[in-house]
Amino acid sequence: MPVRTLEERVAAWSVVAGKQIRMFAADLQDYDVIAAIMKEFRPDAIIHYGQQPSAPYSMIDHNHAVSTQVNNIVGTLNVLWAMRRVAPDCHLVKLGTMGEYGTPNIDIEEGFIEIEHRGRRDLVPFPKRPGSFYHLSKVHDSHNIMFACNTWDLCSTDLNQGIVYGIESEETLLDERLETSFHYDEVFGTVLNRFCVQAIVGIPLTVYGSGGQKRGFLNLKDAIRCVELAVLNPPRHGEYRVFNQFTEIFTVSNWLAW
Ligand SMILES: NC(=O)c1ccc[n+]([C@@H]2O[C@H](COP(=O)([O-])OP(=O)(O)OC[C@H]3O[C@@H](n4cnc5c(N)ncnc54)[C@H](O)[C@@H]3O)[C@@H](O)[C@H]2O)c1
Repeated sequence: MPVRTLEERVAAWSVVAGKQIRMFAADLQDYDVIAAIMKEFRPDAIIHYGQQPSAPYSMIDHNHAVSTQVNNIVGTLNVLWAMRRVAPDCHLVKLGTMGEYGTPNIDIEEGFIEIEHRGRRDLVPFPKRPGSFYHLSKVHDSHNIMFACNTWDLCSTDLNQGIVYGIESEETLLDERLETSFHYDEVFGTVLNRFCVQAIVGIPLTVYGSGGQKRGFLNLKDAIRCVELAVLNPPRHGEYRVFNQFTEIFTVSNWLAW
């Protein structure tokens, strides 16, 4: 699916919705530019999507692992430092992932777990054992964000979303120029998107492992609604909160049963 440039999509939205989106194009690695944009725009909330999002990509070789972690961790650090400097009241909504937790043999809690150890209790971050350098970059982000909230009185919502599938939102349906990207390749394609394409063209599904993996999924529309709800209901100053978000659980054996 061809995707229009950001400029074209922003222009199309102003025609379709009658609303202007101010656009700044910048690399999150460039701290001075990010701080300058934040100072000028004065955001009430930042929705931070701008990361290298592929686990397989991060596992290709040394360069891909390093560039993924530098891009993601430094990008988020730059946002946090810029918030501290010029927008301390802003609410950071950060896209984390359910993959941060890995697949422990106990129920996954929402960010934190209460532990009793040698007669004393504490609420601590849920142990994380992710399966790729990409997911580890998100874990490191989570720690940095929690530290910044506790230390600098910033506030943030970490949205640990499941694997997103789907190709449309209510907004993109309004005009074909608003259509978003649809990745189905083996590196950037998320699994349900890829399986749908493989099923349609009649080639075998590329199932990894034994097919017994169980994962949480959510539709793109729900993913966006979660972000909206977080923005409309911000945490208090100094608060770092975590929401786990998925609406369905699938394994490959489920699909074969359909
Ligand atoms: N797709 C999923 O299933 C899923 C699930 C959970 C979390 N997430 C997270 O959601 C976010 C978006 O993922 P996506 O699937 O929409 O991927 P995507 O590749 O479509 O979007 C990521 C965007 O970030 C931009 N970006 C990357 N590095 C940047 C930088 N240094 N400066 C500025 N922009 C930069 C890219 O250009 C791209 O437009 C990511 O943080 C990802 O980890 C995705």
